[in-house]
Amino acid sequence: MLKPQTKQPATEKPLVQALQRGKLQRVPFWFMRQAGRYLPEYRALRQKAGSFLDLCFSPELAAEVTLQPVRRFGMDAAILFSDILVIPYALGQTLDFAEGEGPQLGALDIAALSFDAAKLAPVHETLLRARAQLAPEKALIGFAGAPWTVACYMVEGRGDAQFNKTKAFAYEKPAAFDGLIDVITAATVSYLAEQVKNGADAVQLFDSWAGLLPEPYFTRWAVNPAARIRAALKADFPGVPVIGFPRGAGALYPSYAQKTGVDGLGLDTQVPLPWALRECGDEVCLQGNLDPALVLAGGNALEQAALEMLYAAKGRPFIFNLGHGILKETPPGHVARLCEIIRGFAA
Ligand code: CP3
Repeated sequence: MLKPQTKQPATEKPLVQALQRGKLQRVPFWFMRQAGRYLPEYRALRQKAGSFLDLCFSPELAAEVTLQPVRRFGMDAAILFSDILVIPYALGQTLDFAEGEGPQLGALDIAALSFDAAKLAPVHETLLRARAQLAPEKALIGFAGAPWTVACYMVEGRGDAQFNKTKAFAYEKPAAFDGLIDVITAATVSYLAEQVKNGADAVQLFDSWAGLLPEPYFTRWAVNPAARIRAALKADFPGVPVIGFPRGAGALYPSYAQKTGVDGLGLDTQVPLPWALRECGDEVCLQGNLDPALVLAGGNALEQAALEMLYAAKGRPFIFNLGHGILKETPPGHVARLCEIIRGFAA
């Protein structure tokens, strides 16, 4: 095991400064799914590792994949290379990523779930290795799936666009579903705390399917668990920012920001940035939200849209990102161009 190194003061990292709502010379940026199949160096390493999960649990290779995009493009942050579904795996549900099929999880027995933190030790080792190789001014972002989104995969057993089986179960047996959310929430708190201890400078909660929940369930299963996770982390690590990404929250974004108290708010592609800047207040650093398809397209459309966002957020705490992950067909040259545009803009 590598030893945790002494952390650099957080203020040296522009991404952390933005999350603490400090004044900046330029807009810090990173991109969701910045590591992955659009990069030839990822595809080469992925082939060497075997399965996707083997890659997630091979610290040396996972650390390398974490760093690949930062080496190539110089983003302000690296994001841990792993997956949100390692939590169901550590809770005892079987998990398989069949090639070209997406994730597949085994039968769910809520009463039998039990968190085995040791199963996630390789992820923590990945963070140590990545932090050790990362320049001090670059942030390392840890992450977990938010409980609702993780529960969607656990109940459904696979990916889906609607998760109607999960919603039917949750609406029919809300107390049992609360129990599942509680188990995931507790595991997530200890997992993220361990990530911070091993070098994460900030953490992001991915609630990719938050937009499927109407009120009052949105508050119950998206807002409340995120608020609990944030509060638990703040108690032990007050200086480590928490970013919430309740994708699809729409009109519920402002109340999510206010009730969870997150430091950073990840906006999806649909949210008009000027609206979010007005409605979500100065208490939170917004992060987003360029359409990933514009990066795929490149050219004038990309340039115009990126500049429009930069002007809209000028003078406000802001982290440039996409509204969802980079698409795997994206030419790396388009990503390089986008980085140039963001870097050239005075905040
Ligand atoms: O952003 C990053 O670069 C960090 C790594 C990361 C991955 N997954 C790697 C990955 C992160 C942060 C995630 C989060 C994740 N995983 C989410 C939330 C964000 C989102 O996209 O909404 C979700 C819902 C998952 C679950 C998941 N993982 C699915 C549905 C799939 C299959 C679909 C697909 O794109 O193939 C994955 C696999 C996965 N996770 C890949 C990567 C790079 C592709 C695996 C491969 O190399 O074949």
